[in-house]
Amino acid sequence: MKYYPLPSELFRFNRQRFMEQIPTGSLAIFHSNDLMPRSGDTFFPFRQNNDLYYLSGIEQEETVLLLFPGCTKSGFEEVLFIRKPNERLLRYEGEQLTPTKARRFSGIEKVLWLDEYEAILRELILLSERVYLNLDEHDRFHSPVLTRNQRMAQQLNAQYPAHQYQRSGPLVKRLRMVKSPAEVDAIQQAVNITGQAFTEVLKMLEPGVQEYEVEATITASFLQQRATGHAYDPIIASGANTCVLHYTNNNKPCREGELLLMDFGAEYAFYAADITRTIPVSGRFSERQRAVYDAVLKVQRESIKMLLPGTDLDEYHREVGRLMEAELLALGLIDSTDVKNQDPKQPAYKKYFMHGTSHHLGLDVHDPGLRYEPVQAGNVFTCEPAIYIPEEKIGIRLENNILVTEKGPIDLSARVPIEASEIEAWMNGAS
Ligand code: GLY
Ligand code: MN
Ligand code: MN
Repeated sequence: MKYYPLPSELFRFNRQRFMEQIPTGSLAIFHSNDLMPRSGDTFFPFRQNNDLYYLSGIEQEETVLLLFPGCTKSGFEEVLFIRKPNERLLRYEGEQLTPTKARRFSGIEKVLWLDEYEAILRELILLSERVYLNLDEHDRFHSPVLTRNQRMAQQLNAQYPAHQYQRSGPLVKRLRMVKSPAEVDAIQQAVNITGQAFTEVLKMLEPGVQEYEVEATITASFLQQRATGHAYDPIIASGANTCVLHYTNNNKPCREGELLLMDFGAEYAFYAADITRTIPVSGRFSERQRAVYDAVLKVQRESIKMLLPGTDLDEYHREVGRLMEAELLALGLIDSTDVKNQDPKQPAYKKYFMHGTSHHLGLDVHDPGLRYEPVQAGNVFTCEPAIYIPEEKIGIRLENNILVTEKGPIDLSARVPIEASEIEAWMNGAS
């Protein structure tokens, strides 16, 4: 790992809160993700299952966690299974996780080799009243490939059909929505790394620079700062590409007079930043670009103020829509007739701002969250209003990362330059 491990107290605390939510005598099983084949004898980079990491701090593949509050077999309330290193693994991959290290990272006392898992599971499952399975649920994503958790659930169901099965997903999701101070620190670190990379771009960008050169600057800066890498594929979009929401080709030259929209975020200790900045390639915004930029910034600033405990997210998104409508009217992009005749399900502003404003941020860039429950202190949201005008090659999105607290929103990205004048000062060597 390139990052400094997070304190094991965080993972201990997460397990404790999870176990408090399930009745005593319940056995909960969490598997790591699969190592996914790429082709030949190569694999895609391994990414730990976020729920398993959240409860254990372990990033190595082939890991299983059992949580069994009230287990009648003494010492088996928390058991972690890790892969036993062999000669080949040590020769090809080098240092492997040992029980001592796994104990230190996770705070779990009982760490066993994975080859004991089957026998111990057989014994514990017969001692349990019910079994909690983690099914990698997501309300807006369905993979055609079953995850390891899902396959193991099918096997257990076939083997122990008379057991009572429950879902861990909703419980872990509820916990993950409210970030602990150590998690906020990790997100803050990811944001700081991203902000530093942004200032490197401000210094190197000029007409003729390729989008991939900007990407390379960001990637190098991330790695130099101990980030694992990008939390998601970076969008480095110039000119007309600023209006392509998920543009990741990043292969065009940045031209004089155009804008460059960069949506990028470092991953640090498994936590994501998700920042967007839009800057003028030549170092100065045109009058029109500046007017649109200031409109987006105004909507962002007003929206951030609404990220308070108790806010209803649907109402929040409607209010952001009203703010955006006012700005688009002022810019002459829509008129009062458009607003009067609009279909409430497809308001006029959506022609220029067609995506949501905020999502949860954490271990996943689109972190799990309960959409229909009020905002709570400890939630971390993005705030990313935008205006896209393809006919003018102007796409401007500004995205900050906000911690909700009882005392008001805290902008974790407050130090990432955003004022148009500040951006211009940086680009012209005045900062
Ligand atoms: N970078 C993905 C998003 O902004 O949601
Ligand atoms: Mn983003
Ligand atoms: Mn986002």
